[in-house]
Amino acid sequence: MKISIIGTGYVGLVSAACFADSGHSVLSLDKDKYKIKLLSSGKTSIFEPKLKTLLKKNIKDGRLSFTTSFSRACNADLLILCIDTPSKKSGDPDLKNLNIALRQISKFLRKDLFLIIKSTVPIGTNEYIDDFFKKNSKFKVEIISNPEFLKEGSAVQDFVFPSRIIVGCNSKASKKIMKKLYAPLKLAQKKIIFMSANSAELTKYASNSFLATKISFINKISQLADLTNANIHDIKLGLGSDPRIGEEFLNAGLGYGGSCFPKDIKALISLEKKSNLPFSIFSVVEKINNQQYEIFYNKILRAFENSNLKNKSFFIWGLSFKPNTDDIRDSISIRLIKKLSPQVKHIYVYDPQAMPSASKSLSDIKNITFSDNSYHNIEKSHALVLCTEWNEFKNPVFKKLKNLKDKKIFDGRNFLEKSEVIDHGIEYIGLGIN
Ligand code: UGA
Repeated sequence: MKISIIGTGYVGLVSAACFADSGHSVLSLDKDKYKIKLLSSGKTSIFEPKLKTLLKKNIKDGRLSFTTSFSRACNADLLILCIDTPSKKSGDPDLKNLNIALRQISKFLRKDLFLIIKSTVPIGTNEYIDDFFKKNSKFKVEIISNPEFLKEGSAVQDFVFPSRIIVGCNSKASKKIMKKLYAPLKLAQKKIIFMSANSAELTKYASNSFLATKISFINKISQLADLTNANIHDIKLGLGSDPRIGEEFLNAGLGYGGSCFPKDIKALISLEKKSNLPFSIFSVVEKINNQQYEIFYNKILRAFENSNLKNKSFFIWGLSFKPNTDDIRDSISIRLIKKLSPQVKHIYVYDPQAMPSASKSLSDIKNITFSDNSYHNIEKSHALVLCTEWNEFKNPVFKKLKNLKDKKIFDGRNFLEKSEVIDHGIEYIGLGIN
């Protein structure tokens, strides 16, 4: 099939590379000329495992190309919208970029078309888009909701082996074309779940908010574990072993970040407010998430109770919002550095991928050094603070960590073994680890 994909963010770019790799002919569009030039030469400005290889291979094989021209993009069997919908101040998703794209499509459309909405959009947006084309185009545009569930850091893997494909549409023709689009992935039939567009849109929010709720739930339990001298690792095992609960997304830590959970929870809070629903579970989820890094910050302050923090330096491992990505959007690590830096002498940081983006975001901070590796400057630091659980941090060289002046490790992701750290004569402070 001939597919055009609008938007080259994580979802757009991974979809373009994976659909091309499955045999479709894909034209990927972005308004950013510089980005399109970069992508055309097989390079990408984002770090995502396996993505670069797929891009290069499919460009070379002639199945994937890039453009800034809506006129070219509209000449396809299927158009897929992967436009960002960031939060507005009110918490509602901002549809400004999506509306610009819709106007461009209606301007350049020359034939009937299937338009697939992959962006996370407020409930009712597919109906709104349907209405827009009825008013603004003489061609028949069938709108299909197809929210995406891939995770950054394992996006290609998630795309190729999806847990499910959600399709919100009404017509037989839409169902047929969606089956054809995903046919190369050879999915079991029951993996494609058809429903109404409104249900598909709400399924996306329900999925993300449920996962965010699971994280805030386990973080609240970790707070209780600290109060009662219990251990969150044991509790996670005991809790997650119930198949009705499951052990995934039960890792207590600094809380969730990234470009999705915070934004989607905000959207639901705003929707509830507007609808005058009496009680919000999502406001509580958000509150716990904001509490969690404050609790961690206070643990750092408490550990140095009797000393002047202005004489202390800290080494932070991890800047990205999660491992295997260079994305720092809503990264708790960045938030923590901004809060901690005015209180302390110096901050040393290291991240395997996110240093370039973080250095821009932290450019106002004067007492910060971006280290060449995870151990360079360790001997100048009093304590180590772990913010992102990159694999390369999981088996640290304790011989080097022993050079920390105050021999303290604060583990914001609970990923080091407490007993091992203590065996090396270093104090260990986690969240709910007793
Ligand atoms: C999330 C969803 O997992 C995807 O299914 C969805 O498609 C995506 O949002 C989206 O809407 O585009 P993503 O934000 O890339 O994916 O990353 P996650 O792996 O879900 O992690 C989100 C945050 O939760 C990270 O900060 C992570 O550190 C945190 N987290 C995750 C925890 O604190 N504990 C856990 O047990 C799991």
